[in-house]
Amino acid sequence: MSYERIRGMYDVLPDETGWWKMAEGAMIETARCYNYREIRFPIVEYTELFARGMGEATDIVGKEMYTFPDRKGRSLTLRPEGTASVVRAYLNQGWQTQAPFQKLFYIGPMFRYEKPQKGRCRQFHQFGIEALGSLDPSLDAEVISFAWSMMDRLGIGGLRLRLNSIGCSEDREKFRDLLRQHFSPSLDRMCTDCNRRIDENPLRILDCKEKQCQATIEAAPGSAAHLCEDCADHFSEVRGLLDLLGLDYEIEPRLVRGIDYYTRTVFELMSVDLGSQDTLLGGGRYDGLVETFGGPPTPGLGFAGGFERLVIILQEHADVKLVEEGLDLFLATLGAEGRRYAFVLAESLRKVGVSVDIDHRNRSLRKQLTLANQLHAGHLLVIGEDEAASKTGKIKQMDSGEEVEISLEIDAVVNFLREGA
Ligand code: HAM
Repeated sequence: MSYERIRGMYDVLPDETGWWKMAEGAMIETARCYNYREIRFPIVEYTELFARGMGEATDIVGKEMYTFPDRKGRSLTLRPEGTASVVRAYLNQGWQTQAPFQKLFYIGPMFRYEKPQKGRCRQFHQFGIEALGSLDPSLDAEVISFAWSMMDRLGIGGLRLRLNSIGCSEDREKFRDLLRQHFSPSLDRMCTDCNRRIDENPLRILDCKEKQCQATIEAAPGSAAHLCEDCADHFSEVRGLLDLLGLDYEIEPRLVRGIDYYTRTVFELMSVDLGSQDTLLGGGRYDGLVETFGGPPTPGLGFAGGFERLVIILQEHADVKLVEEGLDLFLATLGAEGRRYAFVLAESLRKVGVSVDIDHRNRSLRKQLTLANQLHAGHLLVIGEDEAASKTGKIKQMDSGEEVEISLEIDAVVNFLREGA
């Protein structure tokens, strides 16, 4: 019997983790600059949280969740996204009354039963932010500029920001009616999912990817032209602030995004390097979500993006090089005495923060030197019986090839590595 990994779920191997750390580092650093604090929440939640939060009619809830009963028969789901969990935690903490304004970020695995392809996995990893407690358009502009700034930090270019407003819940209701009127006469030409969506939530038709539905979708009315005065003003202020920041955007009147909690601003950031099909990140406002979960009216917004897609761009397109993390020192050994001495020296050096390795397979000196090169060791020391007895040895600086005789006492080795003397 052989054990396969689950389809659409991947190992991130040691040669790749450098790219991941680079992407995660950019997220953490951007969050520090914009003052967003990290939150970590469980990978499993009660199914009801996502079903209510994201909407039963969404593809995610209807088709893509990993849902299973626990031992007491309660329905649990592997988190398909982070927003619902953040809002749950917000309410659990009583922040709605104690500290209603919160700026939070998260990083972690999410799960969706989607058709795997490049940049689309069943276990994927999101970076996301959520800002709760203000309706101010400056927060919309900040969230969007956070996303852009993170991409800048990673050297990811060719960005396209797609922007729209779908208005408040009343606007959305009006917009739904408009969409029903538009789509009803064409239903016999549209897919079975869209025939269902027309009753459940016609907004979802706008996300349909089926070929047969595209012409009718492209002719559908846009939401931004049908906003109430407050929502129209809000949208215009958001655009004004983005202009002030010099961030280019394209208004996409039919951009609604695939989750039901959105209100007002919605946006997506694409990169030419990823191809037109894939979104680097997406988000928007969800001013009614806290109330959906039983809290007081509390506005919120955020975005999330996929690390897998970032890493593809970093590896294949971005003008960045991965700096190989090397060892400070490799200890090659000759004979049993040399091995014993090196083993103890390595342990002492690690305790004071020097990265050091030895060969654990008792191989020839030639093979040990090859290993030192593979590990990108900065320095090499060969320790044999003589070196162990005299407690002195020749340390080699691998880049220059220069060799210096030093004492093998721990302080002397550390001093040499830190100061080169
Ligand atoms: P979403 O559009 O469903 O939004 O996902 C956000 C991003 O996660 C996508 O743009 C994509 O980069 C990545 N992503 C989604 N599914 C996959 C997948 N199967 N494989 C790889 N990457 C994927 C949300 O999740 C919202 N919670 C975003 C948000 C936060 N809205 C407000 N706050």
